[in-house]
Amino acid sequence: RQAALEQILIPARIVPVLTIDRAEDGVPLARALVAGGVKVLEVTFRTEAAAAAAKAIIAEVPEAVVGIGTVLNADDLRRAQELGARFAVSPGATPELLDAAAGSALPLLPGVATASEIMQTHAKGFKLLKFFPAEQAGGIPLLRALAGPFPKMRFCPTGGIDGSNVATWLAEPNVIAAGGSWLCPGSDIKAANWEVITGRCIDAMKHLRR
Ligand code: 3PG
Repeated sequence: RQAALEQILIPARIVPVLTIDRAEDGVPLARALVAGGVKVLEVTFRTEAAAAAAKAIIAEVPEAVVGIGTVLNADDLRRAQELGARFAVSPGATPELLDAAAGSALPLLPGVATASEIMQTHAKGFKLLKFFPAEQAGGIPLLRALAGPFPKMRFCPTGGIDGSNVATWLAEPNVIAAGGSWLCPGSDIKAANWEVITGRCIDAMKHLRR
C-alpha cells in the first residue's frame, strides 16, 4: 500500500495541507490548486466542514488526488476511506493507528520526529513517513542525523515549510515530497483568492519539477 502512496507523492513534489472552514470552499480551492499544477492535496480533519469539503472535491474535481490529513485514530482512518480518499496522513504514529492501517486498504503516511518513532513504524512495515513538525523538530540537520541509522526510510516533511525552504528540503536524497499550508493560507481561502492561490502554485511548481 505504501508503494502506491509513493507513486502518488513522488511526481507531486508538494502537497498542500488544507484547512477548510466552509464546505463550499473545497471545490473552488481544489480547482485553483489543480489549475496551478498541484493535484495531490491533503484535506485535514481539523474542521467541521472537512469531510463535506473532501467529499465534494472527490465528486466534482476528478483531476485532484485527495488525501485526508490529521487522521488521529482508527475511526478517522475509516472515515477517510469511506469518503473515498486515496491516502491518509497522520501527525503521529500510535500503535492503534498503525494496526488499523495494516488492516485497511487505504495507504497511511504516519508522522514521526524521533528514532524510536521511526523504529516503531518500521517494525510495522512502514518505509515512507511524514517527518513532522519538520522545521520545528530540528529541520534538515535532524533529518540527516536520522538518515544515518535508517538509510532505507523515505520522508515527506511538513511543518514550517514554505516557498523559501521547500527546494532545500526536496534536495535531500531521502525526501520524496514536502507538504505544508503555505500555498493556500487561511486568509486566501477566507477571501476566496483562488487566482492568487493558482499563481502561487504555478510559481512553486516552476522551480520544483524534476
Ligand atoms: C501539517 O499538518 O502538516 C502542518 O500543520 C502543516 O504545517 P505548516 O502549517 O507549518 O505548513
